[in-house]
Amino acid sequence: MKTVILIGALGKMGQAALTGLGKHKVITAGRSGAVDHIVDITSEQSITALYEKVGHFDAVVNTVGFCEYASFSEMTEAQWLTTIMSKMMGQINLVRIGQQYIADGGSFTLISGILNMKPIPYAIADATTSGAIDTFVKCVAFEMPRNTRINVVNPTVLAEAWDVYGEMMPGFEPVPGKLVGKAFERAVDGFITGEVIVVDA
Ligand SMILES: NC(=O)c1ccc[n+]([C@@H]2O[C@H](COP(=O)([O-])OP(=O)(O)OC[C@H]3O[C@@H](n4cnc5c(N)ncnc54)[C@H](OP(=O)(O)O)[C@@H]3O)[C@@H](O)[C@H]2O)c1
Repeated sequence: MKTVILIGALGKMGQAALTGLGKHKVITAGRSGAVDHIVDITSEQSITALYEKVGHFDAVVNTVGFCEYASFSEMTEAQWLTTIMSKMMGQINLVRIGQQYIADGGSFTLISGILNMKPIPYAIADATTSGAIDTFVKCVAFEMPRNTRINVVNPTVLAEAWDVYGEMMPGFEPVPGKLVGKAFERAVDGFITGEVIVVDA
């Protein structure tokens, strides 16, 4: 049994990830609500405080990455920066700071999303930062210390989120959260590193 910090646990992707972490001690974290620890992934201080409070842990599973949605011509620099500071830098900082705290042989699992491979209107910031995270994981895997691993789950839309996103995504087939949970399970329990685990229908 590993101790796993699940960030964004109350969100739709967090709930999907949770289905794959059944054999572990899961410590939940998020920005608000009934979680073990409150954390804001856009704040270095908040991330450091989370790791300090948890103490020993073997894995970090992050499912947070806030994105702004607008057409490219209408998206402001502020909207770009909000997305970059959450979905890109927030996740990079979880690893950058977390590498000093995680147990030997531990693992980080991040979140991206299929829109960097299958573009749709209004999702340019999500797609761009998802692509950045996929690249970050593939490349930083060579620099991870103490046999720690890093992977990213790149899923299509969840069946559980289809009511929110379905209208924006004609021609997409949603996948059940349980299937996406398997991808998180493979990342945490397997031996792979530097992988983009695509879950598509
Ligand atoms: N849903 C899908 O079908 C799907 C598919 C592929 C990829 N993704 C990606 O998965 C990620 C999560 O999506 P989701 O559908 O799970 O969203 P969600 O249901 O809205 O959940 C997001 C969770 O993250 C928390 N959060 C937001 N900003 C935070 C921050 N700065 N620090 C800590 N926690 C924060 C939210 O807390 P509050 O409630 O307090 O705001 C909420 O609990 C996104 O990057 C999305 O692009 C989603």
